[in-house]
Order: sequence, then C-alpha cells, then structure tokens
Amino acid sequence: MKLQNNRLLEALSCRAVDSTPIWIMRQAGRYLPEYRAIRSKYSKFLDMCQNPDIACEITMLPLKRYDLDAAILFSDILILPTAMGMDLHFESGLGPIFSKPIESVKDIENLSDFEPAEKLSYVGKAVENIISELNNKLPLIGFAGSPWTVATYMIEGGSSKQFSKVKGLLYKNPQAMHQLLEYLAKHTTKYLQMQIDAGAHVVMLFDTWGGILTDPNYLEFSLAYMQKIIDALRQKASKIPVILFTKNGGRSLLEISNTGCNAVGLDWTADIGSAAKLMSDKIALQGNLDPCVLYAGPTTIREEVKWILDVFHGRNGHIFNLGHGIHPDIEPDNVQVMIDAVREYSSISRNL
Ligand code: CP3
Repeated sequence: MKLQNNRLLEALSCRAVDSTPIWIMRQAGRYLPEYRAIRSKYSKFLDMCQNPDIACEITMLPLKRYDLDAAILFSDILILPTAMGMDLHFESGLGPIFSKPIESVKDIENLSDFEPAEKLSYVGKAVENIISELNNKLPLIGFAGSPWTVATYMIEGGSSKQFSKVKGLLYKNPQAMHQLLEYLAKHTTKYLQMQIDAGAHVVMLFDTWGGILTDPNYLEFSLAYMQKIIDALRQKASKIPVILFTKNGGRSLLEISNTGCNAVGLDWTADIGSAAKLMSDKIALQGNLDPCVLYAGPTTIREEVKWILDVFHGRNGHIFNLGHGIHPDIEPDNVQVMIDAVREYSSISRNL
C-alpha cells in the first residue's frame, strides 16, 4: 500500500518530489528533552533498545515534534555483537564498552553462528510495533553497522582515536580480519533481512569508520563487505532501497555508488554538487549539512541549507540530512528552523 508521505521512497528512486525529503541521523537522541526524560528512567541504554514498546515510543518522539519524512528504528549498531554473546554497556562520557573485546585469532575462530531472528527477535518486534504505530503515514528506515565499523568496536573494545588494535590486526593478519568481516557480513545480512521482513521500507548501512582506512584497504575491508550484504539482500528483497553511508568516504564515492545501493550518504566534507556530477543520476544522495551549523542562529542555518539545495539544484534524488548524527547539545528549535528552510527553499527551486 502506498504511504501517505512517499517523498523518501520517491527520492530514493530519483523521481521528482514536491519538497526535498528530510530526516536526521540520531533524530531520536539526547538533544530532545522528551528522550532524556525516558532515558532518565533507565540505568542502561541497552534496556531501552531491548524493549520493543520503549524502542517504538522513542522512535516516534521526533515525529511528534517535527514534520520529518521518515522514521528510523531506535536501536544501535552494536546490538548485533550482543547477540554473539559479547557483553556491552554504555558509559556516559565514554560511550560503548565491550568487557571482553576480541583479542586473538582464536577469539575470531570461536565465534559461533546464530540466528538474528531468534536472538534479536525484540528488534523485529520493535519494527512491527513502529510499522503499526506509523499507520502507513511514513516510511521506516531499518539499519545496521557496516562489518568494518562493528569490527572496530569489537576489537578496540569501545570508541578509539588511533584504531591501533583493529588496524594492527588488519596489517598483521589480514586473513583473520577477513574471517571476522565475512562472519559479520553474513549475520548482518540476516539481521537486515529480519528488519525488512518485519516491515522496514528502507535499510541503511552505517560505516562510521571506513574513512580511517587507506583507499585500497577501504575497498578491500569495508566496501567489499557492504557489497556482499547488498548483493545478498538483492537476491531476496530485490527492491528494498539501501542507503550506504561511509563517514569520510569522499575519496571513494564512485566505487560506493557502484555497489548497487540506491543512495549514498555524504558527510559534510564532501561537496554534494560534485558528488552528484560524478555519479549516475540513478543514484540518490543523502546529506550533508555540517551538524555544527545547528549551533548557529536562524540566518546562518537558513543560508547553509539554501547553499546545499542550490548546489544540488535541478537534479532529482536528494534526501536532506546532516552529515553525521545530531549533537546532544543542539537546541531543538534550531532543528525546526532547518526543516522549515528545507521546505521553503526546495519548493521554491522546484517552481523556478
Ligand atoms: O538515528 C537514530 O535516531 C536511530 C538510533 C541510532 C542510535 N545509534 C541510538 C543511540 C543509530 C542509527 C545509531 C547508530 C550508531 N551507533 C553508530 C553509527 C552512526 C554514527 O553515529 O556514527 C555508531 C558508531 C554507534 C555506536 C554508539 N552508540 C556510540 C559510539 C555511542 C556513544 C556515543 C554517543 O553518540 O552517544 C552510542 C550510544 C547511542 N546510540 C545513543 C543513542 C540515542 C546515546 C545513548 C544514551 O542515551 O545514553
């Protein structure tokens, strides 16, 4: 059945829309007081992700406040390793922490197969709840981390500055690295398939750390495994739109656009106009306002939004977003200014 608001799916097919669709990475996060109110009732972030009713309630929060064009499942890319038996918690100020990271080749060899549909059935249930709550109004974006990005956390044990352990392993023992990535790609595919079966309209791969690799290593250790996931999804769910986002992936945009994904997510360091010229006009682009623009006042926010829309002018297939997740200390009213500016300027440029 056709969605009441079909802008995102139309833009993903590079068809004309009345107004550029917009959603925001981390739209249901800590910048929202209503999120913080729910968060304060839970000592553990994971407890919220594991409860399908709460995950659904949080997913809906930004949609009650703003006129956005998509919902994104409230969850985290590190839910997948918890299903492998890896113990994870989040510490304020530090972020995610795995108590026993992967330290040896033996640890990689010992990883055993599991069925995401069983171990992570609460995510499938959350997707079903959200789909029913959305009541055909808006599309839902499901997601997973890229194998490379999830592997960085599993090996570093948390967030990292130098990525010495994971890049050390890549250079010392590339076969072991490939074995881990292969394992992650296989289970990520099943995990995304479960979200699609539960009703997700679009899926997105978050490759936050692909950009720390040399160009050839990015192709071999990050993009190749996202490619495997897309190929495998295409065999089953041939039409499901896929958005691929590599932060700092600007040097490999052509290769990314050739994976068979429908849209390429851009961080703010890429020029969206040049990216559009580089790629086939069948590939949509998502992005790419610098999240720090939202610290400024309305005039600057409006100018920066207009600049991105102007640079893209004349081509179909743009999904407006930030170039990375929204910062927790952004003033929620500034988000409204951004959304209003997207509506205003994108409909003006369409009427020219
Ligand atoms: O976009 C959305 O609103 C959907 C929910 C979502 C979260 N994380 C919720 C979250 C999504 C899509 C993610 C993806 C994610 N998680 C990524 C890829 C995108 C990116 O931001 O680069 C990564 C690398 C993670 C891992 C992760 N989760 C980190 C490093 C942290 C701590 C740092 C931080 O930004 O808070 C998290 C925690 C997290 N994930 C929070 C939320 C709302 C905050 C946790 C809290 O409320 O205590």
